[in-house]
Amino acid sequence: MLKTPLIAVNYKVYAEATGKKALELTKKIEGAAKEYDDTVVIIPNLVDLKAVIEITELPVFAQHIDPYGPVSHTGSITAEMIREAGAAGTMINHSERRMILADIDASIRRARELGLETMVCTNNVDVTGAVAALNPTYVAIEPPELIGGDISVSTAKPEVISGSVEIVNRINPEVKVLCGAGVKRKEDVKKAVELGAEGVLLASGIVKAKDPETVTLSLLEGLH
Ligand code: G3P
Repeated sequence: MLKTPLIAVNYKVYAEATGKKALELTKKIEGAAKEYDDTVVIIPNLVDLKAVIEITELPVFAQHIDPYGPVSHTGSITAEMIREAGAAGTMINHSERRMILADIDASIRRARELGLETMVCTNNVDVTGAVAALNPTYVAIEPPELIGGDISVSTAKPEVISGSVEIVNRINPEVKVLCGAGVKRKEDVKKAVELGAEGVLLASGIVKAKDPETVTLSLLEGLH
């Protein structure tokens, strides 16, 4: 299992993190990550997944998998495909890529069987509790209305982080709680950790930054 606390960077399908730019951005983040002994997880778009894995030593997750095995399906992405590509795990159920509960369960099981970690995004405390019962490696609580904004979850909705930590501790304390949405500054990370999160998941704060390396360094400082 990856060491926590951690910072996970979702590249989404942003132009600033696609193709050659995905590789350049990864090198910048890796440069900053080398200054610290913390885990930084890269989550590139699915087309660039393998190319990113090939140029970095940082752990790389897929943005999504489908719950199917390697059978007659078209346009799907399987746990086998991302493992073969060298991914350490996968995110699933992002607010921009929601799944039904039964498929979240099946995807977690398939990933686990193949030795892959799972980071399941949730939108509120109750969904966090439901997902914790499915035993993923991480839940990442992200209030959808704060995604892409300038006010972080730790400032706007601290109770969602502490509530998620509490419900996970009650239902399945093995699961690690991450949080995200609007995380841009070192103080956002610091507060998230103080509220009991074992790391943050963010996108625009790094992907859209003028200097992603400096921002990554500053966010890593916030973990301590
Ligand atoms: O997956 C992380 C994402 O949804 C949060 O986005 O831009 O608010 O950091 P952002």
